[in-house]
Amino acid sequence: MVHSENRESENIESKKIESVAPSLQLFLDDLHCKYKSLGDGAVANYIPELSKVNPDLFSICVATVDGEVYQVGDFNPLFTIQSISKVFAYGLALEDCGRDYVLTRIGVEPTGDAFNAIILDEQSKRPYNPMVNAGAIATTSLIKGKNATERLNRLLDMYRRYIGRDVFVDISVFTSERSTGHRNRAMAHLMLNFGMIDGHIEEALDLYFQQCAVMVNCRDLAVMAAALANKGVNPVTGEQAVDSRYIKDILSVMYTCGMYNFAGEWAYKIGIPAKSGVSGGIIAVVPGKMGIAVFSPLLDSRGNSVRGVKVCEELSQKFGLHMFDCAGGSLNLTKNGFN
Ligand code: DON
Repeated sequence: MVHSENRESENIESKKIESVAPSLQLFLDDLHCKYKSLGDGAVANYIPELSKVNPDLFSICVATVDGEVYQVGDFNPLFTIQSISKVFAYGLALEDCGRDYVLTRIGVEPTGDAFNAIILDEQSKRPYNPMVNAGAIATTSLIKGKNATERLNRLLDMYRRYIGRDVFVDISVFTSERSTGHRNRAMAHLMLNFGMIDGHIEEALDLYFQQCAVMVNCRDLAVMAAALANKGVNPVTGEQAVDSRYIKDILSVMYTCGMYNFAGEWAYKIGIPAKSGVSGGIIAVVPGKMGIAVFSPLLDSRGNSVRGVKVCEELSQKFGLHMFDCAGGSLNLTKNGFN
């Protein structure tokens, strides 16, 4: 069931549901209105293709574990998923190699550094965590397949399970990053030097750039986040997207590392696992309840969407989503939505 600002296109049944659960949709509409005119931040341009995006695009979507989707703004335009992909690739690497092995290659410590810092743990020589670029490249290098095509197909099939439709790679963004991604190439060489990734680093980098260049829209991201909130099951299609055993691994690193050098402040103020990407997306997961996605390409200095952070902060406050909020929030998720 879809709820959206576009009232004309709604069928009678969705109107009935909205009448039971008006507060979330109305709150999303208000938030969209409130932050639409906020022009702070800048679009990412270190991947040349990303600088071509319309900076005014802005959408907010919430998907519940019951498969209800609430959406407002530009929720249909596609954009590349970028770093949000790291969350899902980590799940696939855990399924392919198991927790113990993955931990020998990638740590789970926040860095307090930028997402593209060229830094490894001094003692173990592992990248710090799978949410920063170095850790994500090492993670992607663990994805199994007999050749590059099979590895890419397995990755695309993973996205299909989370989203509920086939996805494709934006070739212009992929080639744009591949021809300019020298920092990432430097990290891959450093990790090869310390045995943290095996040979064929160009193949690992290509797969990482492809995973980042997969096209999604804001609604897709909300459903993907909702699958993480729903023990790994896509709540719209009912398909198991990732083994439920690894949900706690994924959400833990999202919580501590997903927002990079803003992760501590995010955890303190907003208090739910999240992940951002330089194309302007943010996902946040409220376990057992819902997935939240915001898309707005204007970024702050840490690479997080300015409007995205504001919207998540307000949603967390309004519905008491902070995981450690003992006062208990006003959010009451019923079969038909929110009260
Ligand atoms: O590796 C990169 O630089 C990009 N493909 C992804 C970076 C990213 O999205 C960081 N997020 N805020």
